[in-house]
Amino acid sequence: MERLVKQKQQYKCWLNYSHLRDHPVLGDYKQQLTSICVLGEGLILKTAEKELSLGLAELLGEKPVVQTSPESDTSIVAGVNYLADERLQEEGYIVKAVEVENKVQIVISSPSERGLLYGAFAFLRELQGGKNLETIDLLDNPKNPLRMLNHWDNFDGSIERGYAGKSFFYDNNKLTGDLGRVEDYARMLASIGINAVAINNVNVHALETTFIDSRLDVVKTIADIFRPYGISVFVSINFASPMEIGGLDTADPLDEKVQQWWSEQTAKVYEQIPDLGGYLVKADSEFRPGPFTYGRDHADGANLLGRALKPFGGILIWRCFVYNCQQDWRDHKTDRARAAYDVFYPLDGKFDDNVILQIKNGPMDFQVREPVSPLFGALQRTNQMLELQITQEYTGQQRHLCYLIPQWKEILDFDTYAKGPGSTVDRIISGELIEQSYSGITAVVNVGRDLNWTGHTLAQANLYGYGRLAWDPNLSAEEITREWILGTFGHNDKVMDTVAKMLLESWEVYEKYTVPLGIGWMCNINHHYGPSPEGYEYSKWGTYHRANHEAIGVDRSVKNGTGYAGQYFPENAEMYENVETCPEELLLFFHRIPYTYKLKSGKTLIQHVYDTHFEGVEQVEEMIKSWQNLQGLVEQEAYEHILDRLRGQLVDAQEWRDVINNYFYRKSGIPDEKNRKIY
Ligand code: GCU
Repeated sequence: MERLVKQKQQYKCWLNYSHLRDHPVLGDYKQQLTSICVLGEGLILKTAEKELSLGLAELLGEKPVVQTSPESDTSIVAGVNYLADERLQEEGYIVKAVEVENKVQIVISSPSERGLLYGAFAFLRELQGGKNLETIDLLDNPKNPLRMLNHWDNFDGSIERGYAGKSFFYDNNKLTGDLGRVEDYARMLASIGINAVAINNVNVHALETTFIDSRLDVVKTIADIFRPYGISVFVSINFASPMEIGGLDTADPLDEKVQQWWSEQTAKVYEQIPDLGGYLVKADSEFRPGPFTYGRDHADGANLLGRALKPFGGILIWRCFVYNCQQDWRDHKTDRARAAYDVFYPLDGKFDDNVILQIKNGPMDFQVREPVSPLFGALQRTNQMLELQITQEYTGQQRHLCYLIPQWKEILDFDTYAKGPGSTVDRIISGELIEQSYSGITAVVNVGRDLNWTGHTLAQANLYGYGRLAWDPNLSAEEITREWILGTFGHNDKVMDTVAKMLLESWEVYEKYTVPLGIGWMCNINHHYGPSPEGYEYSKWGTYHRANHEAIGVDRSVKNGTGYAGQYFPENAEMYENVETCPEELLLFFHRIPYTYKLKSGKTLIQHVYDTHFEGVEQVEEMIKSWQNLQGLVEQEAYEHILDRLRGQLVDAQEWRDVINNYFYRKSGIPDEKNRKIY
């Protein structure tokens, strides 16, 4: 606890309780919040007590008295099932002000220890917001059963697509010497309701393959740190483990020796870590081994592992990111966008009940704009979860401000029509619309060893917002943004309005100066930073826009194209099929469009490209000015750091603008109507 009190503001992220220091409500809090009693024994209950105590100490400048049994004047009483309410689900909570002997008492209750911890954090959030104690009355349940994060950390300490320094789990093929940092992280995650993490990269190399064998102690140590925060640990495993560490000559899922090996190995794992969440698998994807090698399908592969985990209550999460990454660019028939659906839709209903399919939000790969994967809703007899990317691989790598909550809201709100109107993605993954034994949401996380966790301090908002949306997809982007700003920067109207505006428009701004109308890619190959309009054009990755002097885009219609549009339910299939009804922000994803085509705005496609690119850069200039108005109102170190990032963003946004505009000009030969400089 002392460790946490001393941390810098940027390290504390949204758990900056000290900001309340000059708020008018503070006197009242000081008077009324003097003691805590958390009833019962339990690892997570202890955490709840610790967090309440720390939160109050930081908020009020004085530690509360911790009692073991409640008295009539105890300020906060928390206990599992202390208040019963039939509306409460397992991880839900009540936080309520009740009157006892003319005094307010705060009661926190949940059917589970986990829920109680979430209730404690929800209460602290109310205090951060300066809420009147008498009016506190919360009853909340998480909408998604699994609310997970995926780490792409490698044992050597590097992080695949990590933009915030090295791993805080691993260093040079061992655990780091500062595991206190993992604990600080665990509490941050618990405060936003995360209940599971996968602790290593889905690309499992030789050393991480031994995490379920000779290096099991690594997993055990990390699981021990997460456990008191109600977070279960998953391990990414290598499908070829039976060969690589088991001494077998095959990994064929239908081979009995292989099945036996997985069962025995998994038993050893659970002997050490009885509450392990389970395994996460990337198979037959980007050179990772998988069932295709043996002529088996992905249900065979997933069920093999699901069955090994079943006796221990473990879950098997199987990724749907399966496509041919050895395509010939000359081949116009194969369409990478179709791949996940083509592989997994025919297998609907064939997966065991402890297997979950993990589906990326879009059919390609976390581009700034993509349609929603047609697998959502198409799978009706399969457990499924949505995979988002918080780490900003294609969205500015935490050097650019790109707040992704508005993007995720669009994905979650997308109507698949799977069971008629209103069949939105959030209702599918929550298990509401399609019955599933397990389901939920996960995301590739954006944290590393940098002091501020996320490289760009404002990128903390993406992690915060993800957790809040995973808990409740119905929260609006504005509400989440407000909460984050209060928790991070405290109460100041100018800071609130300025930062909220910057965050909420940043995704659109980023899109404007980078890749237009859903075309995707156009970035440098491999590292994916900065513009390269033909970087992926002649590669093997299946990522082409096929621009020539007249038109750009891939026709994915059923009538004339690759047929991808037909993978959706009829309402959406028809909408995407026709140029006139296709949402314009996805026009170049679904259609091949001439540069002279008139958009709904009345502008030609080419003029739209020019205009948005100039506008995007101008908006970054505006952002810098707005941020400069906050000098003195936010902590100086954070102020300077963010200003520095914004200035860098401007330079790189100009590069994007000029390269993309130049490319379109060279291809089309059509000048800018407004005669601006197009190099
Ligand atoms: C992207 C990313 C890879 C990652 C892969 C995945 O292709 O660039 O680094 O391994 O996604 O999701 O598996």
